[in-house]
Amino acid sequence: MIEFLKQMPKAELHLHIEGSLEPELMFRLAKRNHIPLPFDSEEQIREAYRFSDLQSFLNIYYQSACVLQTEEDFYDMTRAYIEHCRLQNIIHTEIFFDPQTHMDRGIDFGTVVRGIHQALDEGRHKYNISSHLILCFLRHLGPGLAMKTLDQALTYKDKIIGVGLDSSELGFPPDQFKEVFKKAMDNGFLTVAHAGEEGPPEYIRQALDVLKVKRIDHGVRCIEDPKLMHRLVEEEIPLTVCPLSNVKLKVFHQMRDHNILSLLEKGLKVTVNSDDPAYFGGYLNENLMALHEELGMNRDQAVRLAKNSFNACFLEPEEKRTAVLSLETYVKKSE
Ligand code: ADE
Ligand code: ZN
Repeated sequence: MIEFLKQMPKAELHLHIEGSLEPELMFRLAKRNHIPLPFDSEEQIREAYRFSDLQSFLNIYYQSACVLQTEEDFYDMTRAYIEHCRLQNIIHTEIFFDPQTHMDRGIDFGTVVRGIHQALDEGRHKYNISSHLILCFLRHLGPGLAMKTLDQALTYKDKIIGVGLDSSELGFPPDQFKEVFKKAMDNGFLTVAHAGEEGPPEYIRQALDVLKVKRIDHGVRCIEDPKLMHRLVEEEIPLTVCPLSNVKLKVFHQMRDHNILSLLEKGLKVTVNSDDPAYFGGYLNENLMALHEELGMNRDQAVRLAKNSFNACFLEPEEKRTAVLSLETYVKKSE
């Protein structure tokens, strides 16, 4: 089963590229750019990576991003993630990036986009890994700054397929970003939003009704609201669920309490993703293995999750069909 999961073709739809920055590369970039870090050993990092909730993680995550200064830094980080995709049979990935984290430090928007995009382009040509880039607005910085960020993104529309909403959730409901998302859609961007990770089901409803998003990132708290659950099933709204992240950030106490397989069995279009793999102890395959080992996920469930990942992605219909076909061929060959 472990080998089956590892080799299975899959897509990742919820990955913050800044959250793929492994300690080793973080130290290397800190040295290259002469940036002081608050830790000087892997052991200290492991100690610091014990989180009590989303905010305790975000504080460290934003601080660590300071080592990213040049186009080459963003390229190196993204290239390292693409290498993980290659090793894990992720054949398509949709990557979030947080430009405000970098612009706040005086880094040019184009520096960030060009560095990430170059590595994605190489992934496509060298390894046949397709990808899309999604800009996330930091909800704690408010809609005004989000709008300014969107204006900058318009210049790079050819490299960015959509916009999303991340960062601290509680106290920052999606409806505050109505105008930003409206303008993004008017300019042809697809939309997603983090909702129902720490926030209540009402935030999921707002993301759908006010922001008109195509997918919900996380969304696991939908289970508290039967009417919303019914709607998510009826409208086939994909949820990009991140099991290891949810346990690390105490959304669930332990993996055995996670609701992902219940959601799947109730007919929701759930997918498995790694969120911030360098911080949460694993990439996509480690998430799948944890579901198998601790929740008893079987082969049929794993295949349905992978199929959902292709059906929920932003590839063209023909490309999606090809991806699903590669999964079906793989399953047949493994029988
Ligand atoms: N930014 C990076 N990871 C995040 C998460 N899990 N929730 C909200 N914002 C994030
Ligand atoms: Zn996330």
